[in-house]
Amino acid sequence: MASIDPLTLPLDQTSAADLAASGLDYARVDADGDAYRPFQRAVARGFLGGESTDDEAENARLTLRTRRLTAVYDRDGVEPGVPVGTVDSWATELTTSPGRQTDLWAISAVTVAPTHRRRGIARAMLGGELRTAAAAGFALAGLTVTEATIYGRWGFSPATWASDVEVDTTRARWTGPTPTGRLDFVPRDGLADRVSAVHERVRRQRPGSVPGWDGRWRGIAGVAPGDKEGEKVRAVAYRDTDGVERGIVVYTIADRDDFAAHDLSVRALFAESPDAYAALWRFVLEHDLVGTVKAWLQAPVPPVQWMVTDRRAVTATLTDHQWLRVLDVPHALASRAYAAPLRVAVRVTDPLGFADGAWRLVIGDDGEAVVEPVSDGDSVDVEMTVNALGSILLGGARATELAAAGIVSGHTGVLAAIDRSFAPSMTPLLDIWY
Ligand SMILES: CC(C)(COP(=O)(O)OP(=O)(O)OC[C@H]1O[C@@H](n2cnc3c(N)ncnc32)[C@H](O)[C@@H]1OP(=O)(O)O)[C@@H](O)C(=O)NCCC(=O)NCCS
Repeated sequence: MASIDPLTLPLDQTSAADLAASGLDYARVDADGDAYRPFQRAVARGFLGGESTDDEAENARLTLRTRRLTAVYDRDGVEPGVPVGTVDSWATELTTSPGRQTDLWAISAVTVAPTHRRRGIARAMLGGELRTAAAAGFALAGLTVTEATIYGRWGFSPATWASDVEVDTTRARWTGPTPTGRLDFVPRDGLADRVSAVHERVRRQRPGSVPGWDGRWRGIAGVAPGDKEGEKVRAVAYRDTDGVERGIVVYTIADRDDFAAHDLSVRALFAESPDAYAALWRFVLEHDLVGTVKAWLQAPVPPVQWMVTDRRAVTATLTDHQWLRVLDVPHALASRAYAAPLRVAVRVTDPLGFADGAWRLVIGDDGEAVVEPVSDGDSVDVEMTVNALGSILLGGARATELAAAGIVSGHTGVLAAIDRSFAPSMTPLLDIWY
């Protein structure tokens, strides 16, 4: 994990000046100060939520206290203390290859008041985040997005994809393995810690993963204030034959008029082993009085499709999920292990300048990358935007695919060699929102 604490980093002066030119103030917000509650109100409003209760605001404070909160104020407004722009960020880590992590500047809570939209507030806030992260030495920034149209202009691009899964259990008879471990209901008391413990192990092995945090796990466990479904949360853990907890599913069941065909919604299903995955999926699919199982943020092609008689009973709707932004090309490329040797010169174009340049990427037989600048005037084999680099970095998208889309250019043989090298050992997946 990064040794730099983002909370100690100064406010970006370029953004402060740009906003000041429009009569707006740019300021850091202390989660324990008076400005916290209006900040939290502005975030809730930005994401179309209602006014939070004191309990909800206090619960959110537990998370936001660990984050770098930045706000934009219009001091001429009716409520000058309520921000017209918000963003939060924190240092976390991204798994780039199984067992291997790199620092990630995570960004969230990007909102602009609808009264102040399209005046460059988001541009100032995002620019401020990227400049601060780059100056602090972060090679990558990341976020999850509400709309696919917003962040490309700042060099972000999808790097991991996820499926929303819906299963018609009346058609999906189990044909998968029968694991030898056991399943048990576990209480809501302590559930957040239990989910966190399994996820901590899962996320270290899965490229594209980032750690969760207490607030995220309390939300999933149904113990966060304001969770109307909280009382309905149930959880089942899988223990292997040695008694080690290898997986957990947290779910709720909603009524349907047909009492034999309720909807089961999976809040989290984290499995550390194929056995745990099979046992937990079998449990939800064979749950009595359930007709539909829904689960979000599953693998792009969820393995459960291979575990039922009728694979079309499992609908998987693919969406881009985590977007990455490369800030430092050599460090980003060296952060992962590769599948095959490679020697290629790449030019990266970045209108914002952070990643602009040309590099020679040499991957040895050991799968490790050495990245050095290409001398001025030397030719390159491949050209791509910083966005394309973010998309191929973890192997979630392939260079040949992006070349077919006209986003990457280079000789077919070179692009195929990049595909072989960048092939991930597991499909990258981010299994939470951040
Ligand atoms: C998305 C949002 C943050 C944009 O804020 P904003 O201050 O209006 O954006 P800016 O004025 O800085 O716009 C910067 C550029 O992005 C474009 N843009 C902004 N929002 C966009 C959107 N939703 N879709 C497409 N383009 C968008 C602007 O047109 C502008 O383009 P330009 O550089 O070519 O002129 C704001 O609309 C918002 O708060 N939405 C609701 C919450 C949300 O969705 N947040 C994102 C969380 S992931």
